[in-house]
Amino acid sequence: MQITPIAMEDASFTYRLGTDCAEDVVARLAALGASSYLVVADTTVAELYGLDLTARIDKEAGPAHLLTHEVGEVHKGLATVAALAEQALGRGADRRAVVVALGGGVTGNIAGLLASLLFRGIRLVHVPTTVVAMLDSVLSLKQAVNASFGKNLIGTFYQPVEVLADTAMLRTLPPREIRSGMGEVVKNALAIRPSMLDRLAGALRPDTRYDDDTLRWIISESLAAKADVTRDDKHERRSGLVLEYGHTAGHAIEHASRGEVAHGAGVAIGMTIAAEVSRRLGHAGADLVALHRELVAAAGVEPAVPDHVDTALVKNWLAYDNKRGYLDNAPGHTPMVLLSAPGRVLHTGVMPLVPVPLALLEEVVDESAARGPARGGTAEPAAAYAGPPAAGHLP
Ligand SMILES: NC(=O)c1ccc[n+]([C@@H]2O[C@H](COP(=O)([O-])OP(=O)(O)OC[C@H]3O[C@@H](n4cnc5c(N)ncnc54)[C@H](O)[C@@H]3O)[C@@H](O)[C@H]2O)c1
Repeated sequence: MQITPIAMEDASFTYRLGTDCAEDVVARLAALGASSYLVVADTTVAELYGLDLTARIDKEAGPAHLLTHEVGEVHKGLATVAALAEQALGRGADRRAVVVALGGGVTGNIAGLLASLLFRGIRLVHVPTTVVAMLDSVLSLKQAVNASFGKNLIGTFYQPVEVLADTAMLRTLPPREIRSGMGEVVKNALAIRPSMLDRLAGALRPDTRYDDDTLRWIISESLAAKADVTRDDKHERRSGLVLEYGHTAGHAIEHASRGEVAHGAGVAIGMTIAAEVSRRLGHAGADLVALHRELVAAAGVEPAVPDHVDTALVKNWLAYDNKRGYLDNAPGHTPMVLLSAPGRVLHTGVMPLVPVPLALLEEVVDESAARGPARGGTAEPAAAYAGPPAAGHLP
């Protein structure tokens, strides 16, 4: 497996990346010499990979237990963490146990929080199985679950001892989830790592048929991009805020669609909106907007607010963006990450944020919606999503 050391301030761990490398994954886990291995997975991933991985660990590394939770964002809550903790303790887990987070970002967050709480902190290994998890969530120390008042409100910062990623696991991932991950890849390229843009433009596939070499390249580049902005900002409150590119409108679209638009697809559309806002403010040219639309379309996401999404709701959610408070409060404005060119982020002082008039942002959202294709053109429905909390509570 290809080894990448990851460092964020005083936190460090190793990221190992390969293809068809289940044996290496088990060998790395065995090297940890755990008293037991608590493999946490959602029910889909448990069936696809969890049963087999747990059996292999049990045979080659030490006692292993598969602990499952229901699929989906709606189950990313404290109740799930508490139930898993009781199961782990019931199976005899002690301080030398290792939590193996096998799954997407939802499982990663649940298992990450579980590892940080059991015995006040036991070792955590991520085995990511989605594109989003492989190149985004496992590289963040943020481990949070949702509250009825909003997303990711209850959590800690906690680091894994290792990440073990096998791109073979992406072969079963539905196209909707692959496109979502590629939205984040386009974000990394546009906002942080323009050097990957040329190759990425040729590599993106709207039909989501990526070969393993391309996937490993995309993941490696994303590791480098994320490392660039979190090396000195492990809490993602300064330079790391660049990772929020596309998220202001993106989150609002995701929430207004009640989860029909996947997170990364929302971010992708949100970036096209941010580019147009930057152009309207005189910071960027039409070429930047065109480049955004081309890349987002190449990733398989229609670069416009889908017309099945209620724009009034989108505009409502814009006012509750989680970057509020990072800049001095300017009435009628919201802080956004904006670019003047690929890789060139606009700053206010040291913060990679610009106050944007809400009225302008709303206008650009309306224009984007008006440009949208026939209804239903962008996103396939999510499996299980209960919808956002009541307006006013979005973090
Ligand atoms: N900590 C962070 O900073 C951070 C960063 C990004 C995302 N996240 C969190 O990650 C979550 C989103 O992650 P996600 O997009 O991976 O969602 P997810 O974990 O819900 O996975 C998406 C879907 O894919 C299925 N799945 C997973 N792996 C599969 C595979 N290999 N084959 C077939 N199906 C598979 C899952 O069962 C699920 O239905 C959100 O909760 C978000 O808040 C956190």
